[in-house]
Amino acid sequence: MSSSEKRPRVAVFISGHGSDLQALIDASQCGDLTADIVLVVSNNPDAYGLQRARAAGMCTWVHDRASYADAATASSALCDTLRNAAIDYIALAGYLKLLPKAVIVAYPRRIVNIHPALLPRYGGKGMYGRFVHEAVLASGDKESGASVHLVDEQYDHGRILEQLRVPVLPGDTPETLAARVLKAEHQLYPKALQKLIQGDYAI
Ligand code: GRF
Repeated sequence: MSSSEKRPRVAVFISGHGSDLQALIDASQCGDLTADIVLVVSNNPDAYGLQRARAAGMCTWVHDRASYADAATASSALCDTLRNAAIDYIALAGYLKLLPKAVIVAYPRRIVNIHPALLPRYGGKGMYGRFVHEAVLASGDKESGASVHLVDEQYDHGRILEQLRVPVLPGDTPETLAARVLKAEHQLYPKALQKLIQGDYAI
């Protein structure tokens, strides 16, 4: 991208700690990611990631579906917010909700998610956080990793764009494995988002 071209505007969706968000913020600030994170959306008002976003001077928005009359109203409020912020891409980073169909339709091949396992294994409803790592350890697999994929209407289901593998080591607990995978996520996510916005994936 030449310096005269407009940098794409990214919204990051979180529910919790926001370390993947932080990796994207850091990459955007140092120039490894040639996009601006302009909005951080959380379903959880207490998500620590919101503090990270505010510290980086970003707009934040808490989208609590329960505070709307119905799902359709909640969905259009979300679509309006994304449109008003002129968002080009969406990155889910530990967001525990399904995106409404209207958002998916509005951003074809422009929404990505990161998952802490080698999809298509260990994905789907209920497969988040320590449940993923417990399942990997119970399986006896010798490796795990991180996956970045396009987002569709099912959990962890769209086309896989990138994966980074890590070993499962003897004596691993869900916590030690999670920490190793998370470190891989922080390397992988900014690179994958950069490749997507550069048009490096034939999609
Ligand atoms: C990560 O493991 C990510 O793969 C998953 O949720 C976790 C988010 O961690 N989708 P954090 O909130 O970014 O620290």
